[in-house]
Amino acid sequence: MATKKCLLLGVTGGVAAYKAAEAARLLTQQAIDVKTVMTQSACRFVGPITFQSLTGNPVYTDLWETNAAQNMAHIHLSRMADLILIAPASADFIAKLANGLADDLLTTLCLARDCPLIIAPAMNKQMWQNPATQRNLSILRQDGVIVVGPASGMQACGETGMGRMLEAAELVEAVYTALYAEKPLRGKRVLITAGPTFEAIDAVRGITNKSSGKMGYAIAQAAVEAGATVTLISGTTCLTPPAVDEFVSVISADEMLQAVQTAVPQTDIFIGVAAVADYRAAKISPQKIKKTDKNLSIELIPNPDILSAVSGLPDPPFCVGFAAETENLERNAEAKRRKKNLPLLIANLAQDAIGADESELILFDDAGKHILPKAAKIAQACRIIKHIGTLYFQTKK
Ligand code: CTP
Repeated sequence: MATKKCLLLGVTGGVAAYKAAEAARLLTQQAIDVKTVMTQSACRFVGPITFQSLTGNPVYTDLWETNAAQNMAHIHLSRMADLILIAPASADFIAKLANGLADDLLTTLCLARDCPLIIAPAMNKQMWQNPATQRNLSILRQDGVIVVGPASGMQACGETGMGRMLEAAELVEAVYTALYAEKPLRGKRVLITAGPTFEAIDAVRGITNKSSGKMGYAIAQAAVEAGATVTLISGTTCLTPPAVDEFVSVISADEMLQAVQTAVPQTDIFIGVAAVADYRAAKISPQKIKKTDKNLSIELIPNPDILSAVSGLPDPPFCVGFAAETENLERNAEAKRRKKNLPLLIANLAQDAIGADESELILFDDAGKHILPKAAKIAQACRIIKHIGTLYFQTKK
């Protein structure tokens, strides 16, 4: 019989600690060995005895636990764990984790771990939006920590907004994915373009497309989680890149094309998520163009189509396109898929998607269309990567 997986459940101070108790119950029911570590503040919200009763295991609260092997609870507990889940993860705990602090049992064993770490943030919406919190989360994501949630909704303080911890069943799903999910793209090299391009007109002005880069970065994150070796080529965005193998920053479509051409010979799957400007100025003025009373015409010439350049190669990688349409979504998307010769094209309505954290998508492939109902972009990215994996391996059969 396979040995039980061991989950170390870290509980920090927050009202959402009651949901962690429910998650502990569900995970124990599903034959996962749950060991709980609580911070001092967590013990003010839910008693250790609750977790002890639900998991059937002692609960640890003290760095100086005398019953632990060699009196080293932090090392002993982290070595036993296949995975650590911190739920709820308070703003304070996230800040400590991002800075490598180790001043209690939970922070110390997180620092001493050699297994994956998931955190489920829970806090007031203002605390969530605070640049310090967002900065700390970016650091953690770059460090490879998996951040699940939070969700938006009614908060314990009476306000409504982002910061509610995910529900217990969603935590269980995240644990299952981390513990058991296959890595469908292990060993595959995925190249992704993201964000907008910027085409200079003069020294201070240019043409660009509206694009936050969120979808491209989410796809890159999902591909990393699926085990792929990922190169992300990105136009300028305000986002911190996920922990990809190679990140290339570009400005214009020409630079993006060059970076893609360099990377493409080593690529199995190419995903064009970038909003590439279709035209650029025929002549770039090295100095700022001065204002006059007259009309001004700027001659625009077409940019190269990066996706078509890749899909048109004699031996192209598996190519995936994105299409943001403002009208006639299905007709335009299918036409684009055929024109660019793509096995898969993912379409959405531009006005619903740009800059948003959620999106509704339609996938077009040789089998027809598949609708992905509205969900967070990272959740959509995971579904897309799964679909790409399935199609990719079908074409290789
Ligand atoms: N694309 C590209 N290079 C371009 C234009 C688009 O690689 N110069 C890629 C995008 O990354 C996306 C797909 O092609 O994956 C579709 O982009 P979109 O802007 O929707 O389509 P266009 O081909 O530019 O057509 P139109 O703007 O007329 O809708």
